Amino acid sequence: MQLLNRQYRLAARPSGLPTREDWHFTEEKVRPLEAGEVLVDVMYISLDPAMRGWMNDARSYIAPVAIGDVMRAGGAGRVVASRNEQFAEGDYVVGAFGVQEYAIANGKGMHRADVALAPLPKYLGVLGMPGMTAYFGLLDIGKPQPGQTVVVSGAAGAVGSVVGQIAKIKGCRAIGIAGGKAKCDHVVTDLGFDACIDYKSDDLRRALAAHCPDGIDVYFDNVGGAILDAALARLALHARVVICGAISQYNSTTGTKGPANYMSLLVNRASMTGMVVFDYAARYAEAAKELSAWLTAGKLVSREEIVHGLDNFPEALLMLFRGDNTGKLVLALDQA
Ligand SMILES: NC(=O)c1ccc[n+]([C@@H]2O[C@H](COP(=O)([O-])OP(=O)(O)OC[C@H]3O[C@@H](n4cnc5c(N)ncnc54)[C@H](OP(=O)(O)O)[C@@H]3O)[C@@H](O)[C@H]2O)c1
Repeated sequence: MQLLNRQYRLAARPSGLPTREDWHFTEEKVRPLEAGEVLVDVMYISLDPAMRGWMNDARSYIAPVAIGDVMRAGGAGRVVASRNEQFAEGDYVVGAFGVQEYAIANGKGMHRADVALAPLPKYLGVLGMPGMTAYFGLLDIGKPQPGQTVVVSGAAGAVGSVVGQIAKIKGCRAIGIAGGKAKCDHVVTDLGFDACIDYKSDDLRRALAAHCPDGIDVYFDNVGGAILDAALARLALHARVVICGAISQYNSTTGTKGPANYMSLLVNRASMTGMVVFDYAARYAEAAKELSAWLTAGKLVSREEIVHGLDNFPEALLMLFRGDNTGKLVLALDQA
């Protein structure tokens, strides 16, 4: 019997926040495997802010998703048939499977997940792409030294929550920036940051001055916009600014707002460096080993926010831009 696959394809390039009309829901039969291919039953889909950028027809670090293509997304699932000797039926795997129930993959860029070590959704969060981003962005580019002050925006999210915890493991002070009291309480109480600034109700500049009296040594930016500007205004001498993302700008219809306070880089002999996690692919195993050791030892905690049902994909993606998620946002392809 041929399996039926259900998918979300890109129907149109959005202006501002994506709407239902930007998606095309399709059903098609799963074709037979060719030599070297595996069939994956996708169980979890990773919802990432970057997906908004992939919907634009713009030059970036990766080609845009073409109109009519299955939407690109990371995912995790189980191999249900294999004609690839690297993967066997029953293996749990992580890869770029797209927004669909079944994916045919050739094994490239796909790896096994050890579900005895951690539940599968964690391989899309702390043990997956966001964890790798936090690890390499902070350690390779931020280069935090013990005793230094690390500030991270998006602190209650998938990347930011890991950044602050690694900063603490490395003997730094970790100050988070997040939206709302509940998120800030989580960042301090559950994640162990030294403090968290609620950018929605605090005076950001005043709060940064209070929490960073000697300035910011490492600013890990996930959001861009006004928050980046406030952090730039508070840099310490020789500070490092890691440009990881700019979610506040992703749905702008008037263009990206650049930093006004960039002269702070000159005054403080500071650097601002962009990073793309895919550049570290050859070193993922190194990060995965250390992150899973910290997780097992209880030095690192992670939360996943799980939304159920493929049909909810369009609305679930928007949760990222409304700040409705705490921790890694994942779509589970069941109806629980
Ligand atoms: N460079 C790379 O290789 C790489 C890899 C992965 C991710 N990233 C980037 O890292 C950032 C975080 O990604 P993630 O997966 O960890 O997402 P996330 O933080 O789990 O979720 C997004 C969060 O962004 C915050 N946000 C949304 N709109 C905002 C706004 N206008 N101003 C300030 N904050 C806003 C919300 O938190 P609040 O409620 O706190 O506002 C929301 O929960 C994104 O910019 C993403 O593109 C980059």
